[in-house]
Amino acid sequence: MKGLPERVRVVEVGPRDGLQSESKAIDTAAKIELINRLSSAGLPAIEATSFVSPRRIPQLADAEEVLAGIDRRPGTDYPALVPNLRGLERALSSGVREIAVFTAASETFNRKNINAGIDESLERIRQITGPALDADIRIRGYVSCVLGCPYEGRVRSDVVVEVAHRLLDAGCYEVSLGDTIGLGTPGEARALIDSVAAKIGMNRIAVHFHDTRGQALANVLACLQVGVATVDASVAGLGGCPYAQGATGNLATEDLIYMLHGMGLETGVDLDALVETGLFISRALGRRPASRLGQIAALAAGQDTI
Ligand code: HMG
Ligand code: MG
Repeated sequence: MKGLPERVRVVEVGPRDGLQSESKAIDTAAKIELINRLSSAGLPAIEATSFVSPRRIPQLADAEEVLAGIDRRPGTDYPALVPNLRGLERALSSGVREIAVFTAASETFNRKNINAGIDESLERIRQITGPALDADIRIRGYVSCVLGCPYEGRVRSDVVVEVAHRLLDAGCYEVSLGDTIGLGTPGEARALIDSVAAKIGMNRIAVHFHDTRGQALANVLACLQVGVATVDASVAGLGGCPYAQGATGNLATEDLIYMLHGMGLETGVDLDALVETGLFISRALGRRPASRLGQIAALAAGQDTI
């Protein structure tokens, strides 16, 4: 379609961003099956887990076991979230080849989430990226709260631009801009992308929308129209951040793929297999999928409740 990228790289974050905030404990075998189903469905990148403090995120305390159990499909990336050097050591011991480092454009959010302000978090990230690059590890960066913060409200776009730039400077190949509690609308999203792209280049930007207010798909379309070609999403619309009250799941991967394929954009993803995967993880969690496509499939299969 004119003015849109021909191919979109979809980064699946359900096994990490999705499962990190689920109150129901889900066993390691189900996480492994989830990741294997996602790779079989053709997702090119699957954020598999995180190596953060298990006191903070007990849901992902089995990161080592998950990574030891999955079938690594050639050509699929399995990044894992890493907050500090200890996390990097754990990731390297688990055979991780790509990590994701994270900070925010809000001092208060950062303090609640990682117990460090923006500058301190970027210093911590530099301590990680040096040895990671030496070990030939690819590094993705996240900036949270790019269109608003649950504690500070408005966030200045020049702060987002500066933090994104500092992440690239620290060695990230790409920066994913996170609307952590789904505050943004398409005009704001597009304006932010323009500002960040002017500093770091469009091909370094990914977008990460939570769908709290039902704006995620519209925001993605606005960003594709200005040249973004990498989009994060979460199967079955799982997720949220436990340190961002009110954050619901990310944009559901099924609904995103449906829109992209409908517009003739390539993703390499098998939508039917993905919808089945969404139903699988929703059953494991004992609830209905948050994706529209999952709800339609559940109804068609006669499962009005899951
Ligand atoms: P801290 O809070 O300053 O406390 O940690 P600490 O340094 O004293 O460590 C706390 C405990 O964790 C200690 O153990 C450490 O040894 C241990 P204790 O003495 O209590 O027994 N510890 C670790 N254990 C295993 N692996 C490690 C590790 N590090 C420390 N790597 C820290 C700072 C950053 C580690 C902590 O605050 C933390 O893990 N925070 C993670 C919070 C998190 O995962 N949030 C969700 C991800 S961000 C997100 O979802 C947003 C995103 O999706 C984008 C968007 O939507 O905007 C990415
Ligand atoms: Mg997120």
